[in-house]
Amino acid sequence: MPRRKNQTAPVLGEGGLRRFSGRRIVSFRLTLFRRDSRRVAGSRYERIYPLPPALPTKPEIRYTDAFAAPSLLRVEAVAIMEMEQLVALCKRRGFLFQSSEIYGGLNGFWDYGPLGVELKRNIREAWWRDMVTAHDELAVAPGAPESYEMVGLDTTIILHPHVWKVSGHYDLFHDEMIDCRESKGRYRYDQLLGRWVECEGKRVFVTTDAPGSEAVERIQQRALKLFNLRTKHADRLQWQSDLTPLPEVDDLSVVLGPEATEPGTLTEPREFNLMFETHTGAIRNDNSKTFLRPETAQGIFINFKNVLDSTRVKIPFGIAQIGKSFRNEITPRNFTFRSREFEQMEIEFFCHPSSSAEWYRYWRDRRYRWYVELGLAGDRLQLREHEQDELSHYSCGTADIEYAVPFLPEGQFGELEGVAHRGDFDLRSHMEGKLVRQGDELVVERDAEGNPKYRGSGKDLSYMNQETKERFVPHVIEPSAGADRATLAFLCEAYQEDEVPDEKGKPTKRVYMKFHPRLAPIKAAVFPLVKKDGMPEVAQAIYRALKPHFPVFYDEKGAVGRRYRRQDEIGTPYCITVDGQTISDGTVTLRDRDTLQQWRVDKDACVDEIRRLLNQ
Ligand code: GAP
Repeated sequence: MPRRKNQTAPVLGEGGLRRFSGRRIVSFRLTLFRRDSRRVAGSRYERIYPLPPALPTKPEIRYTDAFAAPSLLRVEAVAIMEMEQLVALCKRRGFLFQSSEIYGGLNGFWDYGPLGVELKRNIREAWWRDMVTAHDELAVAPGAPESYEMVGLDTTIILHPHVWKVSGHYDLFHDEMIDCRESKGRYRYDQLLGRWVECEGKRVFVTTDAPGSEAVERIQQRALKLFNLRTKHADRLQWQSDLTPLPEVDDLSVVLGPEATEPGTLTEPREFNLMFETHTGAIRNDNSKTFLRPETAQGIFINFKNVLDSTRVKIPFGIAQIGKSFRNEITPRNFTFRSREFEQMEIEFFCHPSSSAEWYRYWRDRRYRWYVELGLAGDRLQLREHEQDELSHYSCGTADIEYAVPFLPEGQFGELEGVAHRGDFDLRSHMEGKLVRQGDELVVERDAEGNPKYRGSGKDLSYMNQETKERFVPHVIEPSAGADRATLAFLCEAYQEDEVPDEKGKPTKRVYMKFHPRLAPIKAAVFPLVKKDGMPEVAQAIYRALKPHFPVFYDEKGAVGRRYRRQDEIGTPYCITVDGQTISDGTVTLRDRDTLQQWRVDKDACVDEIRRLLNQ
């Protein structure tokens, strides 16, 4: 019988479904079948279905209008990428490992494995090439007010400690944290979520530090425990609010901490500076204290004059830098998304104040397009302009480029990159001293005696336009991206599952990484169909011809179908197979990872063909 609107049907899929008996929100990819059991054309219909957090052991999916077509007989559901599947693949295939894993790991630190290092290098190189080396300084880029120049820098991780005082990081770069006197846990104040619940005449705000998708269920478990109730008596709990951030609760004495057994054990929030401290030199005292940089940007600002004096760049121009940054995050989480050591790709773009708003719009759109061009397509990527009250005190405009990373609750996005109009704040700070806003003005912050709280360098960081003879302090547009977050987003976007026929024509599940060819760690794999009849020799010759030009892989072990799957799973876009026909007519098979199309090319044309494919 055809199913009707809003009927429920048992989930018929397999594979990922076994995991669903665990209690978690899962997304489904639905395949629709007609009454005659044929799949609906293009039937891998993708739609994300968040299930309620507490799943029944035999999960059901509820039809919505989209699937109410009367010709449909049944719906099969296959789990699409869950974060856990990606994390497992990353470890299994050598993309990412937990740092210091053999010693139990170090929270907030990650190592890139043999494939991960290539992927991240490709992302960094794509950024550097597209933003710096391949930038055409003679032409006006689409959307730009005029042509501009780009140069690079590589500055040190440890800078003069005064840099961070003047920039504001020393005083202001902190999160509010809250401690639990009972469990000794430490949490980010703004990340604790809770719900008001009443039971036996007692009203408590029950909190958790679990991410949004798991929070509701975790809070229910904790409330049951607090009131000594069994799951079957859950209806005795009267819930009086949805998920609410802890900062909205005034009275901490009625708050149950995330790991506490009774309410009232959380301390008042305190500020916690995120910069890692270290010491330089043999003597350790306050004077030797330095910091691991929390951003690469300051290294650029303090070299602004050096770049002007040593090159012929003229405003408008940008300085780019890629490098490690360090933040002692209170709650590193979500795989590499919030790490304590990470890499940034930052541009400080210097322009005349009169055109800075136009340049802001240019960079915001240019940077968004960059992600789209490399494959972060569709509605998982968004550009979000900040509201006025979200802007930093010095900023006249900021936009975030955000991606719906699968560990976030449905509909939520995480920041990949911020593009900020910073006005003249940074250069003026390093000239005059730490600035604060006073009305509409930025003024030097003063101490109790009226002296600058933190003095600037006193160096002149203004710019003289030699043609107009105008001197001004340039405005700055800052596109600031995270290389690790970009890598994570490209990994998430690439993860695909489908069904392809195996050698015997039987449909089998395939996991493949649909990386943009520019980002794929390995560009092509070369296989002899069998390890005899001269095929390995020809395949090795092709491998050697390709190797000086591209990262390629040679594999002769196992059935060819298995070898294809291994390459699909690491995102290799092209496979070249030497077979019986090669020996007779000199052609090889080229296979496309995504379309599975195969075609023949001359074995001596492989380098040109792979180059053509990668550049198309
Ligand atoms: N100079 C400006 C600046 O640093 P930010 O928004 O603090 O701005 C820029 O950081 C980018 O650095 C973020 O959009 C993100 O991609 C990356 N990032 C920041 N903190 C991070 C962390 N703890 N782990 C991984 N990436 C991080």
